[in-house]
Amino acid sequence: MITLPGLIDTHVHLREPGATQKEDFETGTKAAIAGGYTCILDMPNNPEPTITPEALDKKISLAEERIYCDVGFHFGATLDSTQHFKQAKDKQSLSLRDKIFGLKVYMNHTTGTLLQEDPQILQTIFESWPKDKVLMVHAEGPTLEKAIQLAKNNGNRLHVCHVSLAQEVTMIKKAKSDGLPITCEVTCHHLFLTDEDAKKLGPFGMMRPPLPNKEDQQALWNGISDGTVDTIASDHAPHTKEEKNPPAGGSIPNGIPGLETTLPLLLTAVNEGKITVEKVIELTNTNVRKIFNVPQQFDTVVEVDPTKHYTLDARRLYTKCGWTPFEEMKVTGKIKRVVLRGQVVFENTEIVNPPKGNVIYPEKIKQQPD
Ligand code: NCD
Ligand code: ZN
Ligand code: ZN
Ligand code: ZN
Repeated sequence: MITLPGLIDTHVHLREPGATQKEDFETGTKAAIAGGYTCILDMPNNPEPTITPEALDKKISLAEERIYCDVGFHFGATLDSTQHFKQAKDKQSLSLRDKIFGLKVYMNHTTGTLLQEDPQILQTIFESWPKDKVLMVHAEGPTLEKAIQLAKNNGNRLHVCHVSLAQEVTMIKKAKSDGLPITCEVTCHHLFLTDEDAKKLGPFGMMRPPLPNKEDQQALWNGISDGTVDTIASDHAPHTKEEKNPPAGGSIPNGIPGLETTLPLLLTAVNEGKITVEKVIELTNTNVRKIFNVPQQFDTVVEVDPTKHYTLDARRLYTKCGWTPFEEMKVTGKIKRVVLRGQVVFENTEIVNPPKGNVIYPEKIKQQPD
């Protein structure tokens, strides 16, 4: 048996409010706990996006008392939402700035209505966001070049979500060696599935960015080894089976669930000698806390049996969507027990307690003038 600190996932779509047919705070945080995650950060691209203080407060009150792991929130970027960044600097007790972990800027087409492509608006967003807080981008391929330039010009702390291409790893490596405060994440689906799997999976292998070819995938593993990659996130983005199989002519939503498969896949990679346990802890906990100012959870651990072989099976998952692109994959390493603040919350496939999670806020950081 080995013990890890509770995992932290900074890229999760819990879908409430507005799309609770896919997931909600209860099912999503049960899935998190069952996957060894004791803390997750929720993305803003709901049908009713998190782009006003009111929308944020609504999410917070919906989540309270119903969450099985700790949950924090990100804010969404639009031209209108930048007006609230200023308010975020007020000296009120808990201002918007104190409540959110990061800003998410969608620079390519994906689920939701938050796409920003106008250079002027992007400039305003990057310029207005507090320089001591993380600015996350969905920026694929050549778009990432633009994001890095904007961050460089405006002095932002850039975090690149779901890196999936060799060219992106190269750009980030260069930006880091130029001394820019840039970090990035990769997902397990980009590490473990390729465009070959996408052909077999059909709609259930469709996500943004799409599954990589073998060469791009190898670049992600190399990025982990050489320290270019800072974190692993699930990008847990559930959609129902019905939504993934629309009537002829209907559009297929992008995104796949990942909270319950990420740790088993990483443990399998450990077993195969592709990554060390120490590196897994760094990518899913230590680095994550540093980049996002996530408060430490005391007496919070995941106990895993690193040698246990089993087969991933969607029927055993807690996610409401009820499927996984990793169905029938053989993995090594099983989550046996999860302890949150000294209390057992998961044991041998079962959630064993009423919800014990808290809504969390970032640790106070020294505010720099911006
Ligand atoms: C995400 C979703 O469905 O919310 N989809 C995806 O394919 N990754 C949005 C996103 O993270 O881009
Ligand atoms: Zn476009
Ligand atoms: Zn994205
Ligand atoms: Zn996402």
